Amino acid sequence: MRRSIAISLSPNCEKDDISLALKLLFSPFSWFDFRQTEGLENDFKKLFGSNYQFLAVDSGRSALYLILKALGISEGDEVLLQGFTCVAVPNSVIWTGAKPVYVDVDKNFNIDIGKIKEKITEKTKAIIVQHSFGIPVDIQKVRRVVRNKRIVIIEDCALSLGAENKGKKVGTLGDISFFSFGRDKVISSVFGGMILSKNKKIYEKLKQERYDLNYPSAFWLIQQLLHPIFFSLILLTYNLGFGKLTIGKMSLFLLQSFNILSKAVSEDEKKGKKPKRFLRKMPGALAVLARNQLRKLEKFNRRRRNISNYYFSALKIKDLQLPVKIKGSIYMRFPILSSRSIQIFRCMKRQGILFGDWYKAPVVPVYDLSLVEYQPLTCRNAEKYSRTILNIPTNPTMTLTDAKEVVRLIKLCLNTK
Ligand SMILES: Cc1ncc(COP(=O)(O)O)c(C=O)c1O
Repeated sequence: MRRSIAISLSPNCEKDDISLALKLLFSPFSWFDFRQTEGLENDFKKLFGSNYQFLAVDSGRSALYLILKALGISEGDEVLLQGFTCVAVPNSVIWTGAKPVYVDVDKNFNIDIGKIKEKITEKTKAIIVQHSFGIPVDIQKVRRVVRNKRIVIIEDCALSLGAENKGKKVGTLGDISFFSFGRDKVISSVFGGMILSKNKKIYEKLKQERYDLNYPSAFWLIQQLLHPIFFSLILLTYNLGFGKLTIGKMSLFLLQSFNILSKAVSEDEKKGKKPKRFLRKMPGALAVLARNQLRKLEKFNRRRRNISNYYFSALKIKDLQLPVKIKGSIYMRFPILSSRSIQIFRCMKRQGILFGDWYKAPVVPVYDLSLVEYQPLTCRNAEKYSRTILNIPTNPTMTLTDAKEVVRLIKLCLNTK
């Protein structure tokens, strides 16, 4: 049996990650071992250099919220961010009391630098710059726009660990930044996040904040450790059965319904509300998983780049608009635009391959865009792209043969009505 290609279902998880999760599950004494969390921070220091301070927490969204609070952002302030993002980003801004101000995106799905200036007011305190799909933004250009305005540049590197702009690692280009180790990110410990701070004073403030946080519950941690184990079985059986009634799909449904597996975004967050479990320390067991994945970062990103290079050459097809090739990108997902995106998405699903749809609205997942203070037509490009976007997998667990099969099936899907 072969594992299915699915962009969002534990796409980075290899055999060693699964056996590590299993081992951790039966080693409760290591679950909240803070030395592992510090070890992960030191691993980041080795990767980025000793000029930067690192602080691990339970998620990217916690990291962003803590950064905003440490910067003193609160009611009456405005924070710029791009349309075409995850709900976790505007939610973090809103929960500080500040107002998210959306800026449209450019053809790289990143903030349109030319449109930043018109959104700046006296109240603007920070700008969140997201490197979408691992495609780096030229932060120097952003800096030129906000120069002399006391606006802090926060880099959102949730999708871009290892990407570079002009030979410099993303995360080191702005004033402060954060990474995510979510289930479908560059590296994964199911949940997890890291703050990179250049400023010692802000770091000390953040460290104190983190000291005061609680750990998540043991039950929650067990859920996360079960994630790689169950998903390896789900992916093996995802297409085993008839139509929608496959063993993998039914198992996934049941495991989530009975709360054995957690979801990436809670129902509360989709309504713009703070979830019950928010802002926690990163448990040692998840740090162990993240450290194991971090050792494979180079290999993972090399694979993503190779697969993307193949897509660049093999997907020159009428009906598909490929991304602009940008040096230093890692293409955590390969974004294409097509007026037939929904048809391709459904057709590939029938073939047993799960594509992605980030971001099929200017902010996802949220029940109503007004809940995250997004007004229709604010970001016309973001809205246009969200109607035609399709993310093709570049999972590091895929081979080039898998990528060839993906391309073959896309072509097949385009020829079907
Ligand atoms: C662009 C972006 N920023 C931030 C986050 C938040 O990261 P986390 O899921 O670790 O909270 C996400 C999550 O998907 C994201 O896509």
